[in-house]
Amino acid sequence: MTANDCQAALAAERAKWGDRLLILGHHYQDSSVVALCDAVGDSLELSRIAAQSTAERIVFCGVRFMAETADILARGPMGGDNGRTVWLPAPKAGCPMADMATAEALEAAWARLIAADPKAAWVPVVYVNSSAEVKAFCGRHGGMACTSGNATKVLGHLFAAKRKVFFAPDQHLCANTAHLLGLPADAVALWRRALDNGGLDATRIRAAKAVAWDGCCPIHAGYTPGDVATARTRHPGAELLIHPEAPVKVAALAEAVGSTKAIIEAVSRAEPGTHLLIGTEEHLVRRLAAAHPDLDIHPLRPIICQDMGRTTPEALLRVLQAWPDDTLVRVPDALLPDAHACVQRMLALA
Ligand code: 13P
Ligand code: SF4
Repeated sequence: MTANDCQAALAAERAKWGDRLLILGHHYQDSSVVALCDAVGDSLELSRIAAQSTAERIVFCGVRFMAETADILARGPMGGDNGRTVWLPAPKAGCPMADMATAEALEAAWARLIAADPKAAWVPVVYVNSSAEVKAFCGRHGGMACTSGNATKVLGHLFAAKRKVFFAPDQHLCANTAHLLGLPADAVALWRRALDNGGLDATRIRAAKAVAWDGCCPIHAGYTPGDVATARTRHPGAELLIHPEAPVKVAALAEAVGSTKAIIEAVSRAEPGTHLLIGTEEHLVRRLAAAHPDLDIHPLRPIICQDMGRTTPEALLRVLQAWPDDTLVRVPDALLPDAHACVQRMLALA
């Protein structure tokens, strides 16, 4: 099928549904997919849109944890069949960072942390880049989700309330957020999955304000100070905007650290002629460069999230034409009360 035939078939299928269908896309999708979406956003914006939508079917051009979050919000804490369904055109589109934390492992670590510092007001916080099981773990223990777009608000609120945070799965988002909130580097202790008791003794746990799981995003965590030096040599005078999933030692070299949305807004505000290096996923950086020909925009180092790249117009057409079972995303009802509480507490706060 040619690209034109695919576009025509998609338009015909889309027209049959009207408002009963909502096609959502994350900013890291390829431009050929973004052009087909009803709304494009970062994880936080897409969660809000999913929460407010009354569409019967949500098709999520993104990765599995995003579609699961949409299902959690679309079906609510009671679950069951309320006539609303969520679909993921690329069923294998996962997230390696989300896979780095299981609910079982987090439960075991949570018990050890409480035993090490039983007087602390512990609370779990999970990055929305996590499985539904992990969100249920978090909700069950009174915690909430966060995204890169509201992590400062969520952690700032909890620290102000003298809560002690167990953060998973992204160590770098936790460390960068603590830094942005003015905490010293040793305020965050790193829980290393491969070591007994996370490699932390009770004294270190008691001294910390937060304990971070040692997960990371392979895309953003791969940036190095050497990448910054190389890019600055190639583009002298350029300002670096970087996503908080990057390591602190790299983020510290940037002019600004911000979520996907914050990066997009900073680009929109930039004066014509500004030179920018952007440390996030390449699909978005290339699209920003094309949309702002008056700016000089380059990726810090070109890198694509292969899971985000799995969604294609052809995969989207397959869903709209056949609604195959393997593309339906349905969080088990047993997880919904706790997983919903976890996400809803975030939306209510930030
Ligand atoms: P945000 O959309 O929250 O910036 O997350 C980035 C990301 O890695 C999504 O997978
Ligand atoms: Fe996961 Fe990173 Fe890809 Fe986002 S960019 S889906 S965090 S691997």
